[in-house]
Amino acid sequence: MKAVICRELGLPEQLVVDEMPSPRMGAGDVRIEVAGADVNFPDVLIIQGKYQLKAQPPFVPGAGVTGTVLEVGEKVKHIKAGDAVAALINVGGFAEEAVANVAFCMPLPSGLDLAEAAAFPLVYGTSYHALKQRGQLKAGETLLVLGASGGVGLSAVQLGKKMGARVIAAASSADKLALAKQHGADELIDYSQQSLKDAIKTLTKGQGADVIYDPVGGALGEECLSCIAWSGRYLVIGFAAGPIPNLAANRLLLKGAAAVGVFWGAFAQREPEVNADNFRQLFAWYAAGEIKPFVSRRYTLAEAPQALRDMMDRRVTGKIVVTP
Ligand SMILES: NC(=O)c1ccc[n+]([C@@H]2O[C@H](COP(=O)([O-])OP(=O)(O)OC[C@H]3O[C@@H](n4cnc5c(N)ncnc54)[C@H](OP(=O)(O)O)[C@@H]3O)[C@@H](O)[C@H]2O)c1
Repeated sequence: MKAVICRELGLPEQLVVDEMPSPRMGAGDVRIEVAGADVNFPDVLIIQGKYQLKAQPPFVPGAGVTGTVLEVGEKVKHIKAGDAVAALINVGGFAEEAVANVAFCMPLPSGLDLAEAAAFPLVYGTSYHALKQRGQLKAGETLLVLGASGGVGLSAVQLGKKMGARVIAAASSADKLALAKQHGADELIDYSQQSLKDAIKTLTKGQGADVIYDPVGGALGEECLSCIAWSGRYLVIGFAAGPIPNLAANRLLLKGAAAVGVFWGAFAQREPEVNADNFRQLFAWYAAGEIKPFVSRRYTLAEAPQALRDMMDRRVTGKIVVTP
């Protein structure tokens, strides 16, 4: 099969697209003909050896796929050849075939565009868990989303609206904010042009945001605790900007607020039933067309290094997928 191979840790340009043997599978595994592979910021980190999850070269990057099941191991009961599935695999996705443990495979509702659906599980799984279990977002509350045109950010905008919140989208350009607006954001803040803290204070009449969804981190993350509401929840999603924010504990005290970590992958493993409940709701909304990933570009396998470069250089809006 053809695959994108990381033979040495480094930049996207060091990836090689080549033939390699199909991955071997075990009794509890499922072999998938890949229709779409999700591209996420952690893929950029993992090929450089900078992600919390380490992979030893040679490996194939790509943490999530959708496609059609080709064969199943003898212990697999509820999925069969021919089924359409989404699977989470950590690595192995940027290839014509991928093997996933059945515990991390989800049957997909019929009628979905499989390549588009590849962009769904990780970002919506993360954002729904963040807003529902970790942020306890309630209808009528104000939700601030940073990096609101990015992968997880745009899904948080859509889900925040679905959950009845007033959504304030914050991003670094007018184009990115226009996209967040198309996906339901009520208010917009361009943090390359205005102070996040001042803009939030104006938009909330001095009250601050009840829930803050932060996949960006750095200096912006640190600013968030200056514009959080009484009893607010600051959700630590990621650090796309690079630096990990140093949070001011005094501000948490003064606002009776909480800083709450979100680690969807670990949650999905530790609390599989709650995660499955989340996905029942998410797939129902997706199948009904009420939420939908915005795939701004599809890349071939040969273009996969470019996909990672575009993500690294902050050129991606919404989601991108690799379609073998
Ligand atoms: N906690 C979890 O379970 C979980 C799950 C999935 C992802 N994540 C994390 O969430 C973060 C975002 O992931 P994603 O897939 O949504 O990425 P993405 O699509 O690239 O979005 C990240 C956003 O961050 C902003 N940004 C600010 N500085 C940046 C920089 N130097 N480089 C790149 N982007 C920068 C960009 O928006 P502006 O230009 O508008 O600022 C961009 O839209 C990552 O840190 C990822 O590891 C966490």
